[in-house]
Amino acid sequence: MHLFRKKNVAGVDVDLAHLPSHIAIIMDGNGRWATSRGLPRTVGHREGSETFRRVATYLNNIGLKHLTVYAFSTENWSRPVEEVDAIMRLLKEYFLEACEKMVRDNISLKILGDQSALSPELREIIKRTDELSLQTSGLKVNVCINYGGRAEIVNAARILAEKAVLGEIKPEDIDVSLLSEELYTAGIPDPDLIIRPSGELRISNFLLWQSAYAEFYFTDMLWPDFDEKEINRAILSYQKRNRRYGGI
Ligand code: IPE
Ligand code: IPE
Ligand code: MG
Repeated sequence: MHLFRKKNVAGVDVDLAHLPSHIAIIMDGNGRWATSRGLPRTVGHREGSETFRRVATYLNNIGLKHLTVYAFSTENWSRPVEEVDAIMRLLKEYFLEACEKMVRDNISLKILGDQSALSPELREIIKRTDELSLQTSGLKVNVCINYGGRAEIVNAARILAEKAVLGEIKPEDIDVSLLSEELYTAGIPDPDLIIRPSGELRISNFLLWQSAYAEFYFTDMLWPDFDEKEINRAILSYQKRNRRYGGI
């Protein structure tokens, strides 16, 4: 329960009674953050993972229900192997740490994406965090790893096609809700607000289906520079908008 309706961070107020239910973030700009300091890109990824911890803690504290973060896309495999390995190591580190802390912090974790390409070790840790998630009721954090919006929709289409071939459904049964149920995000409400740092004005294969009526917040700030104040700015911007969903 929040006794105060507003949460102020460094002069930026948000209305806690009207938080978005689901915020999604494309955690972009780690590489540029490091390069501009003369540091290796991997240092930027480490800094970005610290920012993620900080932002998730803040959003859990103010009572957000769902947070989805884009950590590694299906296209990010095209990066140098050392960079890919460094990102995978950071993810493993985060999930191992989560095993210790998530119940205390009342956070649940879910992976969105094709896990078959992940190391057996990482998959094992993810299984453990899945089990621990059953004990928590606070912020639900979805981490997109080896995630692509197109791959997700293709995967759902295949599952529905198989069901149709087996006679479990008829092609005309396929509608928005049936397809949604086969996405990685089944059971998770669509994102209300999608945040993209780093000055890029694109979606980069993130939540293509689920973003149909999302509100967007773009900023030039790089992800490692994000903090509670910038998150509040994004939420405040969202709270000033009028969502019409095609109506008037
Ligand atoms: C986002 O930061 C992290 C991943 C895509 C894994 P980038 O690594 O894309 O950083 P920039 O965009 O090169 O600055
Ligand atoms: C999107 O960022 C993917 C993640 C943040 C994980 P990218 O840096 O890969 O996207 P592009 O290449 O700028 O579109
Ligand atoms: Mg990038």
